[in-house]
Amino acid sequence: MKVETRVISVAADGTGSGNEYRQVVACLGHGGLVAFPSETVYGLGGDACNPGAVAAIFAAKGRPADNPLIVHVKDLAQALEFGKDPDGRLAILAKAFWPGPLTVVLQAQPKCRETVSRGLDTVAIRVPAHPVALRLIRESGFALAAPSANLSGRPSPTRADHVWTDLSGRIPFILDGGPCEVGIESTVLDISAGETRILRPGKIDVVGLQRVLHEPVIRGEAVEGLVRSPGTRYRHYRPQARVLILEFSVLANDWREMVAALHERGLNWGYVGWRKRPGEAVPSVWLPAEPVAYAKGFYQALRVLDGQGVELILIDGPPIAGMGMALWDRLNKAADGQLADFESLVARLTPITSDS
Ligand code: TXA
Ligand code: MG
Repeated sequence: MKVETRVISVAADGTGSGNEYRQVVACLGHGGLVAFPSETVYGLGGDACNPGAVAAIFAAKGRPADNPLIVHVKDLAQALEFGKDPDGRLAILAKAFWPGPLTVVLQAQPKCRETVSRGLDTVAIRVPAHPVALRLIRESGFALAAPSANLSGRPSPTRADHVWTDLSGRIPFILDGGPCEVGIESTVLDISAGETRILRPGKIDVVGLQRVLHEPVIRGEAVEGLVRSPGTRYRHYRPQARVLILEFSVLANDWREMVAALHERGLNWGYVGWRKRPGEAVPSVWLPAEPVAYAKGFYQALRVLDGQGVELILIDGPPIAGMGMALWDRLNKAADGQLADFESLVARLTPITSDS
């Protein structure tokens, strides 16, 4: 069913008369959906305890039904209504990192298992740091189930117009609070079993977590982790264009040859990165090498090039340090692979040209 989508501009610091908030809070109260800015990416929120609202989130995004949602709460006390903290580790994490870009997976209270948790016995929870998100949670009086506000499989939205591109006609409200600060999704940390495991890397990294927890933090998924974090099974972060990652050696040795080959084939390609400038004629987005700044512009870059109708995006990734680790996780999922040399580009071009 097509709905009319309204975009409401709000101050990024969460101030404002309240008229803007009143109508979206009323919408949430009736089980409706509202896209809102968080410090990481825009979320698509609905009442976490209303099965109808949760079902509507899945329908609007086209999200696989077994991929659980993060519950957004205002503080630790509200988190404990949804998850359990038998050994006090959540309290330690909350003190150090909330509000902030850390999602914690806990043993779930029974009430969320059939809604946000999709049948799992765990639940993912975070307190977002964005004033607009916090105000929405406080004024509505309930926790918000919220995945990233994109169509399933697409890059997460870091601006309101990205949400519009994906979800206009599918949701009633988008709160526009400007661009998101972090630019990639929160770290997902599983403490529901004995060990402490990062299921999705993000701005809060293993070093920061170990410093606070004084215990080893395991990086990445176990084999059985596929069951623990169902989201990792699906395609993610993909723009419409095909994405290939440029290895450093390609940039250093084969760049000119490659650009020439792309021109020769008349392929509409684009570039995202920091080491090369492919010339005026090529749609490109230059990003800073520093990983925190790179992350802030990354999804925007993919969407800008999609908007220009390119068929192929070549990406020069950030250095693998600090947040670079989290970015490479997203990059590898967005891309069809890496280009090691000129020959591998030529091999990959053949299917693209015959597709179109
Ligand atoms: O930064 C973020 O986390 C954003 C903002 C809006 O808060 N949200 C976000 O949600 O990225 P989403 O749904 O796009 O990604 C949530 C990830 C998925 O990979 C999902 O499978 C995982 O968290 N997840 C949710 N509940 C889980 C659970 N109980 N156990 C393991 N993984 C879970
Ligand atoms: Mg997502």
